[in-house]
Amino acid sequence: MSAPPKNQAAWLDKAGTPPRVGEAPIPVDRPGEIVIKNTAIAINLLDWHMQDHGVFVQQWPTILGCDVAGEVFEVRPEVLEVGPEVQRFKTGDRVIGHTINLVTGRPQDGAFALYVVVRADKADVLPDKISFTDGVEAGEALPGIPTPALGLPYPVLQDKAPSISKVLVVYGGSSSTGSMVTQIATVAGVHVIAITGPRNFDLSKRCGAAKVFDHKDPSIIDKVVEAVKKSGCDFVGIFDAISAPEPYANDLAILAQLGGGHLACTHPPPTEVPNNVKTGMIYAVNDVATPVWRDYVTGTLDAGKLKCLLPPTIVGKGLEYVQEALKMSKTGVSATKLVVEL
Ligand SMILES: NC(=O)c1ccc[n+]([C@@H]2O[C@H](COP(=O)([O-])OP(=O)(O)OC[C@H]3O[C@@H](n4cnc5c(N)ncnc54)[C@H](OP(=O)(O)O)[C@@H]3O)[C@@H](O)[C@H]2O)c1
Repeated sequence: MSAPPKNQAAWLDKAGTPPRVGEAPIPVDRPGEIVIKNTAIAINLLDWHMQDHGVFVQQWPTILGCDVAGEVFEVRPEVLEVGPEVQRFKTGDRVIGHTINLVTGRPQDGAFALYVVVRADKADVLPDKISFTDGVEAGEALPGIPTPALGLPYPVLQDKAPSISKVLVVYGGSSSTGSMVTQIATVAGVHVIAITGPRNFDLSKRCGAAKVFDHKDPSIIDKVVEAVKKSGCDFVGIFDAISAPEPYANDLAILAQLGGGHLACTHPPPTEVPNNVKTGMIYAVNDVATPVWRDYVTGTLDAGKLKCLLPPTIVGKGLEYVQEALKMSKTGVSATKLVVEL
């Protein structure tokens, strides 16, 4: 008989300290949940904000982290019986998922552990052809940005989406979220104009952007406005992956010249906007992501309609590397996802 599995986690005892790798209980799934044995975990900018400032932490010690890839460790029969979302999974399935520790505060919902609880409606099967290390990138970025939030359709699985004659500007097209939203919008038949650093123009074009402009170009506003007009498509608005003061100022200048539109943000949007600008914050943990997980993640990845195009940076193998990965995230990355393999 094999020894019972043991869990370990990168525990954060208090804000402003490095995580401590130590034992943790093996999580038990409740209705609507699955337990995943992690193979790869990815870092989000939010993780080091939580580490540094304790924001969203509801109890100490805590386990941080949101993005996981691994195998379904357990779906208990009593859980399977009562939850339709759980019935999509069986023990041993390769999966990716997005944990919601910042909502629940429970340590078992933090990704930086060998075993983690994930809500079944925030997970989906990872096609065999995609490695855990590549697939973990999609956890946060893909379902977090459903295009309906911008009044756009979901991605389609048929061979080529017909153009819907709409144009979207993606600010920060080389970020995790921006690169994925560029792909999602393109697959939905939307014409995308992206803003990135110059070394990531090619990447953004591979994501589907028709035109890419340098975020440091002093004429960025005029160039984007001209490209939108030349596209001949109806202007939807801007998805701003960066959502910081400088991009917001540029967003509003672009929107002003184009008669307004949506401004979708990854952080709270600017408070003072003209009447013709409709702002909103897209939040990966919200239920708005559920249909994307349920109906699109596996299918679009399997069909190659959406790809994990950001090359991962593997920081190391083992929970001991979480602190190094958090430090690298705080320093800032360009067009990559920081991954710790387990
Ligand atoms: N609301 C939510 O649910 C949610 C979910 C995930 C993330 N977020 C937030 O969304 C933001 C983006 O996260 P992420 O993981 O996608 O970021 P990321 O991948 O770490 O972003 C790195 C990229 O940002 C680009 N960038 C930096 N400053 C820029 C600027 N002024 N203009 C254009 N591009 C710029 C860089 O582009 P170059 O290297 O090409 O210069 C770099 O490739 C973060 O603040 C994060 O906290 C929110």
